Formats: sequence, C-alpha cells, structure tokens
Amino acid sequence: MNLPFRPRRLRRTPALRRMVRETRLSPDQLVMPLFVVPGQGVANAVGSMPGVFQLSVDGIVAECKEVHGLGIPAVLLFGIPEHKDATGTGAYADDGIVQRAVRAIKEAVPELVVITDVCLCEYTDHGHCGVVEGGEVANDPTVELLVREAVSHARAGADVVAPSDMMDGRVGAIREGLDAEGLTNVPILSYAAKFASAFYGPFREAAESAPQFGDRRGYQMDPPNLREAVREVLLDLEEGADMVMVKPALPYLDVVRAVREAVDVPVAAYNVSGEYAMIRAAAANGWLDGDAAMLEALTSIRRAGADLVVTYFAKDAARLLA
Ligand code: PBG
Repeated sequence: MNLPFRPRRLRRTPALRRMVRETRLSPDQLVMPLFVVPGQGVANAVGSMPGVFQLSVDGIVAECKEVHGLGIPAVLLFGIPEHKDATGTGAYADDGIVQRAVRAIKEAVPELVVITDVCLCEYTDHGHCGVVEGGEVANDPTVELLVREAVSHARAGADVVAPSDMMDGRVGAIREGLDAEGLTNVPILSYAAKFASAFYGPFREAAESAPQFGDRRGYQMDPPNLREAVREVLLDLEEGADMVMVKPALPYLDVVRAVREAVDVPVAAYNVSGEYAMIRAAAANGWLDGDAAMLEALTSIRRAGADLVVTYFAKDAARLLA
C-alpha cells in the first residue's frame, strides 16, 4: 500500500514514542493531600481509601519528609479537630490541629510547600461547610469565619491557602484579611469550580465531614454546568485568586479544558477520593492494572490542561516516574 502518511511509524519504539509525547507527567506537578488528627503515634487507615491514613502530627511530619524526598513539591492539609461545634471554632483556633501541623512541618521540612484546605465542614458538628441559619448555610457569616481560618493558617506558616467551601465572595474577603495582617505574600489557590459530587464519598470518611442533614447542593456547583464553572473561575480571579482549581477531575475534564482556555493563571485539578477509590478497588479485584490506570488517569488530567494535579496517588506516581 502506498500511503502518504503512516502514523504508526512514530509509535514503533519506546524511544520514538517518548520523543513525540505531547504531555508529560512529573512529580513536580503533583500535590499530596494529607489528613491530620490529634494525638501521638496515630495512624488510622481509611477503609474506603486503601493506602490513605489519618495521621497525628508526628506521622504527618514523617510523611512530609517522604513526600519531599520523592520530589513532590507540595502537600494539601486537612484537619480533624478534637471537638466539633456549630461554628467550627477548631478551624480558626491558633492552636488548632492544622495550625499545629503546619508549624511542625515547616520546622522539619521547610522547603515543602504547605497548602491548607480552608473550610468548616471538618470542624462543624452538623458537617456543613459554614454556619447554618434557618436550615441553610448562611453565606456572609461563613465568609467571616473563613477569613479567620485562612489568616490563622497563614500565621502558622501555611505557604498557600485553599478555600474549598464555595461561599460567594470568600476569595476577595480572604485576600483582604491576609493583606490586613501583612500576609501579602501568601497566595490563594481557590477551589473555584467545585461540583456537588458523589465522588467525595470516601473523603467524608477520611475527614469525618459528612453532612448530618441535607446535602451540599445549595453551595457546591450543579454537575451539568460548564459555562457557570468558567464564570466562577473568572469571579475568583477578579477577587484575587492566584491559582484556580477544578474538582473533581476525571468526570470534569471538559471543565478543566474550558478553564485552561479561559485563563492564564495556573490551573489545578483535584483527582478526588472517589476517583482514587475506584481505581484501587478495581485493581484489588484484579480487574485492571492499578499502576497503569493511575498513570493514564493522571496523564489525562494533565492533557486536559491542568498544570497541577492534587492526588492521593502522588507518592505512588512519583515512585513510578522516578
Ligand atoms: C470540603 C472538601 C471536600 C473535599 C475537599 N475539600 C469534600 C466535600 O466537599 O464534601 C473532597 C476531596 C475528595 O473527595 O478527595 N472541605
């Protein structure tokens, strides 16, 4: 056959394929989420997320050394407090669990970028991401508490704060709050397009943050909406976000692509707990090759346009990429 072009010519050897590969995956682009709990020597396995543990501060520090050693630049910290209450006071206490963990990490591994998740759901007894008034989450009173939380994290040494609550106007308020405290160098990674997703199920076990009534559809985005996601991103940028995140990742790759094309700031995507659990569960059953599926999924998120991928696979992927 006389074909003018044979695409298979460039696929014949590993070196050829490597040479013409359009998308690269490197540990530099990964962020490892971690769950910190009170106590000493605590390592509670999260049942629905094999390989993921709730760790006390000492364990978190050890984990951060390992993450850093693997060439991963950053961790994203979630805290589970001693006590939960209606307004999530543990979130903005200067000796709160995240604040203590940040101080310990920055002392032990100063080069590691510590990003803190700024939200109230892990700290409220009702499990919602804000203050509940008349059966719904009240926006503006919640924003005030989020500002206190972000400032408190940054004062403890957080390198980046990442609001994940989806309240309106919180990015601008947090920027103002940080600047008023002289924390002008602390960037905001905004969970700008965060959808009300069933894929967060395993996380709510890990973070002990399942809502005790209702759901999060009144503040997180409706899954069918793409144009609205771009609008959310643009609003957060107007308010001063330095980086924006799309979440979840795999079922929302079209959103990642649309955001990538709409903005020129760094775009992150969150490969969430349910995406992790699906691959782990199928691999445990021998139904697919877990390592190959993991690398393909992470590469796809990069190909869709994400600069950064937040993933529970970060350590495993970094080991394979080394
Ligand atoms: C909320 C928050 C959630 C996740 C990150 N931050 C859960 C939620 O909105 O219920 C989910 C992450 C995951 O599923 O891996 N603070």
